[in-house]
Amino acid sequence: DTYQFYLFENFWCPSIHFQAVNSFKKEFQAKDSDIVVASFPKSGTIWLKALTFAIVNRQRFSSLEDHPLLSSNPHELVPFFEFIFGADDIHGQILHLSNMAEPRIFGTHTPFPSLPESIKESNCKIVYICRNPFDNFVSAWNYFNKIKPTIVSELTLEEAFELYCNGVMEYGPWWSHMLGYWEESIAKPDKVLFLKYDDLKEDINFHVKSVAKFLGCPFTEEEENNGVVESIIKLCSFEKMKDLAVNKSGMYGRGGIEKKNFFRKGENGDWVNYFSPSMTEKLSKIVEEKLSGSGLSFKMCS
Ligand code: A3P
Repeated sequence: DTYQFYLFENFWCPSIHFQAVNSFKKEFQAKDSDIVVASFPKSGTIWLKALTFAIVNRQRFSSLEDHPLLSSNPHELVPFFEFIFGADDIHGQILHLSNMAEPRIFGTHTPFPSLPESIKESNCKIVYICRNPFDNFVSAWNYFNKIKPTIVSELTLEEAFELYCNGVMEYGPWWSHMLGYWEESIAKPDKVLFLKYDDLKEDINFHVKSVAKFLGCPFTEEEENNGVVESIIKLCSFEKMKDLAVNKSGMYGRGGIEKKNFFRKGENGDWVNYFSPSMTEKLSKIVEEKLSGSGLSFKMCS
């Protein structure tokens, strides 16, 4: 049961998601009220899913004692298109989609150019998150080493690094993934909000407010004065989420991933504990080369 990639529409599509990515593209009908949480893998997807869910549903679930995020993993509350369309009962899933409460919130790792036309053409919104490639690589390497069987788990850090530098990782190359959403966020700032994990860690308060504003539900002054922003930040914090029983044990998805593997360290800068000087030099050069002229940069890479 090896984990392979197909080079499909210029990205590395995991073989286990191949059929789903195609069905998603062909069959998904977006609604204007839909919200898509898009990300490059291991960039804080679960964090942004939790934040988006909490922000959008803050009036429905105003009590923090029985909030759904305390009893469900964010991947369950905000399902990936790649899992919905990969389900055995795909028609049942599609039927279920039309009955979901609005606004519907979904996750995806699919690169922007390969999204269904209906997502691109409707007025639905996309919040995108990526992360500086140094921490992204370290997060991915740790993660893929824990969820076997994967192709990466059979590799040493150095071997995995070579692949990452060549853009080989699920849904990679990372630079194309980032730049696809980046360019769309510049062309259509009302359509795509481009976020970086690094920035969220630095100033989460600012970003929670900007996500709310972007999604058309800005916080009122009263909410701000009543600590609603702070309570969402706390509810979705790494410490809080990692400690919940629902995230500590049990499995997620068809691939059988232990939910605890979604929470590792949750910090910027852990890459220094893994990178040799030559790795640092090599990846710095690639970042510069791939992102130059795009306007996209990462503070720690400059
Ligand atoms: P690290 O491996 O650096 O710790 P994804 O959700 O895209 O798989 O990203 C996983 C990364 O986000 C992991 O990074 C994980 O620890 C971190 N993470 C998970 N939940 C988080 C949270 N609530 N706040 C901040 N980081 C979080």
